[in-house]
Amino acid sequence: MKLSRLSVSDFRNFETAELEFSEGLNVIYGKNAQGKTNLLEAVWLFTAAKSFRAVGDSEMIRFEKDAATVKTEFFAFGRENSGEIIISPGKRKLIKIGGVPLEKTSELLGQFPCVLFSPDELHIVTGAPEVRRRFIDSAISAFRPAYYGALRAYLRVWKQKNALLKTGPEKEALSVWNVQLANEGARLMQYRKAFFEALSPICAEMHREIAGKNEELEVLYVPSCPLSPSLEEQKTLLYEALEKKREAEIYQGLSLIGPHRDEMKFTVSGKDARAFASQGQMKTCALSLKLAQGVLLEEKTGEEPLILLDDVFGELDGDRSQFLLSHLAGKQVILTCTEKEGPVERAGKRFFEVKDGSICIST
Ligand SMILES: Nc1ncnc2c1ncn2[C@@H]1O[C@H](COP(=O)(O)OP(=O)(O)O)[C@@H](O)[C@H]1O
Ligand SMILES: [Mg+2]
Repeated sequence: MKLSRLSVSDFRNFETAELEFSEGLNVIYGKNAQGKTNLLEAVWLFTAAKSFRAVGDSEMIRFEKDAATVKTEFFAFGRENSGEIIISPGKRKLIKIGGVPLEKTSELLGQFPCVLFSPDELHIVTGAPEVRRRFIDSAISAFRPAYYGALRAYLRVWKQKNALLKTGPEKEALSVWNVQLANEGARLMQYRKAFFEALSPICAEMHREIAGKNEELEVLYVPSCPLSPSLEEQKTLLYEALEKKREAEIYQGLSLIGPHRDEMKFTVSGKDARAFASQGQMKTCALSLKLAQGVLLEEKTGEEPLILLDDVFGELDGDRSQFLLSHLAGKQVILTCTEKEGPVERAGKRFFEVKDGSICIST
């Protein structure tokens, strides 16, 4: 995957801007609140038509304007391609790939392999379970677009079951929903199980390289019921777990079992990272996870993903920064930082200075 060009108009604080990227390391630098992260956000839109900031779409439209447009030119899966996304308030986003409008947003999944690392990514380790589930869902959808459909199907059933639970249902009525929930949920669990089996050894390897051999990172899938290698048995196991909690669910009016309650866990040398790791160790876990996600995405799609790094060097110490730069050597990276200096200046191929919503220098 190579991104050659990005252009935006009325996107965030940019009236118009156009950037031509080189292979290797592209550096976007400038003072705070000038628009650096906004440019990464524009690129990231082509992964799933969503911002990485948890916001409504219309916040991306430049203040007092009617629509934001973002365009890209890129090479992926053996051909030159182009993308266009138009965001207008109260309307569905218009998304075109190769000039052709997509009928469903989900058709975009997998077309633009890309991995993001920002200081916020630490929340995958330290934050609420929802953050980790969002990571799992977006990471799997990026190379298994069918996962997204399975997730939607599950959430539909889950919502209907929740509505029923609010009414204080009869046991039999609930069991009918549990059968459906178990069928849809078991599919998700199979995807997630396979994802963690592939991801975990790569995470451990990245972590060994960054932290040294005497710390072992494990990234574990913690589902809400026992796992099985077979889909049919998984349906049964999930159904049994749901039925066991039936009384409690009716009593609490809440759906207590299923993939919407799944978790992931990080352990360093066998100890739960959330409880025992230092801030530095948690950053290393998050960085290992993100680099592993990139490696896995490449394994699964055959495309080297574009790497977006938002303000990470202020966060990482010298050794980790050095490892990161050497790991990324040869890959296409877009990085934001405040100063054009040090290892970033030495390794950078192209530089863009951003000032108040304009690219004022590009070299
Ligand atoms: N919809 C919008 N219209 C105009 N300006 C915006 C909009 N959304 C954010 N901004 C401005 O963008 C700037 C922040 O940009 P950002 O990319 O986060 O900065 P940084 O260079 O620090 O990464 C702020 O000045 C903010 O007011
Ligand atoms: Mg920023």
